[in-house]
Amino acid sequence: MRYSGRRVGSSRHPCPVDTIRTIAWMKEQARQARAESRIVGLVPTMGALHAGHLSLIERARRECSPVIASIFINPKQFGPNEDFSKYPRTFQSDSEKLRHAGVDALFAPEPSEIYPNGFSTYVNVDGLSDKLEGRSRPGHFRGVTTVVMKLLQIVQPNFAYFGRKDAQQSRLITQMARDLNLDTEIVVCPPVREPDGLALSSRNVYLNADERKAATVLYRALEAAKNELAAGVRDALQLQSSLRRKLDSERLARVDYAEVVDAETFEPVVRVNKPCLVLLAVFIGKTRLIDNFYIGPKSSSSEELVFHF
Ligand code: PAF
Repeated sequence: MRYSGRRVGSSRHPCPVDTIRTIAWMKEQARQARAESRIVGLVPTMGALHAGHLSLIERARRECSPVIASIFINPKQFGPNEDFSKYPRTFQSDSEKLRHAGVDALFAPEPSEIYPNGFSTYVNVDGLSDKLEGRSRPGHFRGVTTVVMKLLQIVQPNFAYFGRKDAQQSRLITQMARDLNLDTEIVVCPPVREPDGLALSSRNVYLNADERKAATVLYRALEAAKNELAAGVRDALQLQSSLRRKLDSERLARVDYAEVVDAETFEPVVRVNKPCLVLLAVFIGKTRLIDNFYIGPKSSSSEELVFHF
């Protein structure tokens, strides 16, 4: 594992990023880095990398050396009727992107390495895991927290980076790290968007041309809610009905949920007078997309709200 991000090799025959397939070797490499008092950063992914993932790597590179990315399409976080078998598998181009992004090592274990025969221990964040995404995707978060716990246990990074597009996932992982006294600091980074506002997601590749146009309705609905908040609306039901109206106006959209929740508990709020999240889950055709924005006070001494997309 090299730490500078510099690689030997020509542009025609670039060196692949250092790929680690086994837990034993990953542990040994991370242990050596820690023994040299290096700040280890981990960016867990399921591959199909886009600019959102690369922004996590960029942030990790500013704060850590070495930076390790993982690619593991975690079967345990997909429900029986979800897209595990058709989830985009783009290992070669992902590996190339990681090399360009200056990642020091890629941890890409096989499922049998992570879940050997007889595997039977799961991590679950009670309560939070059952709401919203958890209600629509039973068992999903148990799969996420189990695999993330394993990755954190294997690499024992100082920092691990997650995107706030998956707001509930990041909140759960932060809670898990706190509850289990992990030494890793969880860093949550803002989503990256297309110029028309669509949040980057590995699932955007499922959208056909009409659906891709329709998918901007999530951002348009969030923008409309933000404008109402900026105009002084604080009633959560009013905000939710305007989100619904906007989303329902798009023929290809079917709303799963559109809610304003407390940013800590993910419980619905009546009025927006504390840090909140506006959360959307919407089917565009067969593709389920999520998006959100965060509402918080401008500063600890201010009542003015700011919106983080
Ligand atoms: O957000 C993802 O890509 C996955 O849920 C994660 C955190 C890598 C766990 O498999």
